[in-house]
Amino acid sequence: MKFKSIKGTKDVLPDESHRWQFVEQTIRSVMHAFNYREIRTPVFEETAIFARSIGESTDIVGKEMYTFQDRSGTSLTLKPEMTASVIRAYIQHNLGEQQQLVKLYYLAPMFRQERPQAGRLRQFHQFGAEAIGSQLPVVDAENIALAAEIYRTFGMKNFSIRVNSVGCEICRPAYKQKLKNFLQKIFDKLSEESKRRFEQNPLRILDSKDENDRSLTASAPLMKDHLCAECEMHFEELKSVLTSLKIIFEVDGRIVRGLDYYTKTAYEIVSTDLGSQDALAGGGRYDVLVKELGGKNAPAVGFAAGIERLMMTMEKQHLFPDSSARPVFFIAAADDAGRRWAIQQAIEFRRHGISCDVDLLCRSLKAQMREAGRQAARYVIIAGEDELKQDQVKVKNMSSGEQTEARVSQLLAEAKRLHASP
Ligand code: HAM
Repeated sequence: MKFKSIKGTKDVLPDESHRWQFVEQTIRSVMHAFNYREIRTPVFEETAIFARSIGESTDIVGKEMYTFQDRSGTSLTLKPEMTASVIRAYIQHNLGEQQQLVKLYYLAPMFRQERPQAGRLRQFHQFGAEAIGSQLPVVDAENIALAAEIYRTFGMKNFSIRVNSVGCEICRPAYKQKLKNFLQKIFDKLSEESKRRFEQNPLRILDSKDENDRSLTASAPLMKDHLCAECEMHFEELKSVLTSLKIIFEVDGRIVRGLDYYTKTAYEIVSTDLGSQDALAGGGRYDVLVKELGGKNAPAVGFAAGIERLMMTMEKQHLFPDSSARPVFFIAAADDAGRRWAIQQAIEFRRHGISCDVDLLCRSLKAQMREAGRQAARYVIIAGEDELKQDQVKVKNMSSGEQTEARVSQLLAEAKRLHASP
């Protein structure tokens, strides 16, 4: 019997992992530049945390969570998103007591049992950032600027930032009723999916992907035109700060997001290079979630972005650097004495941060040279008993074919020089 990975999950093989490392390192460096600090939370949490925060009527909670009972009968869920988990940790460890504004970022695997397709996986990875402890629109703007800066750092093109306001518990109920009155008139013509949403989550009908739903709701009332004074002021200030930061954005009144915790700002970053799953990132403000999960009042804003979708777009736009993880040196041995020396020398090089490989399969010199070529090593060092006795080993530059000699006693210094050279 042959085992295979689970549908909707992916192995990252060595030929690809250096790309992941490049992407992760770049994300971390931008996060640190914005003074967001990393948080890591467990892969699973109590189910109620997600059900409460994301919302019982959402697709994620209704049909996508990997939920199971452990042996003691506790219902656990593999994280479908990070926000709820981060807020649980924020409350549990009183993070808000040490400073008013807590800025946290993460890079982690998430799990949702969706129908797999290009850009949609069952285990996928997100990077994201949450700023907890301020209601000011400048924090929303900085959070959006951070997301945009990450894409800019990669050299990404063809993406747009769409912002909206989904109001608050004061202005949303009246708007919801108004929207329902509108939808009632066209109810029979709506898709089955939208009909299902009518009672529990009518706002989501506005971001239906169904073309017919979209044209039927073309003149539907939008939340952004029915905001209370406070939400309106917040939205205006956000747009003004974004403009002063020279961030190009569009206002899209149809953005509602698939999670229930949003208040005021909701935003998405979409790419035209992604096909039907075009959302690179999504986020927004969630001013009541901390309180709902049992904490003190702490308004917050954040976003999360799919790493696989980022990488698909980068691939399409040729944004990955060519470099792959390849050793700088291969130490080839001409005989047994050479072999014994080669492994010692390799350890010495590695201790000084110089990547190198060595033959561990007792191959002929010719086969070792072939292996060095396969690994794309930049230099091969060749030594046998005679060379070692004469304190003189050969160093071959694999791209030019040029061969020089180096003293064994000075090999480390020479290797450091070559390692640093381009
Ligand atoms: P979300 O929109 O559900 O938001 O997910 C954010 C991003 O994760 C999406 O834009 C997409 O790039 C990626 N993503 C989601 N599902 C999948 C999937 N099945 N396969 C591949 N990529 C996927 C959230 O998760 C919120 N927690 C964002 C947030 C943070 N809001 C406030 N703070």
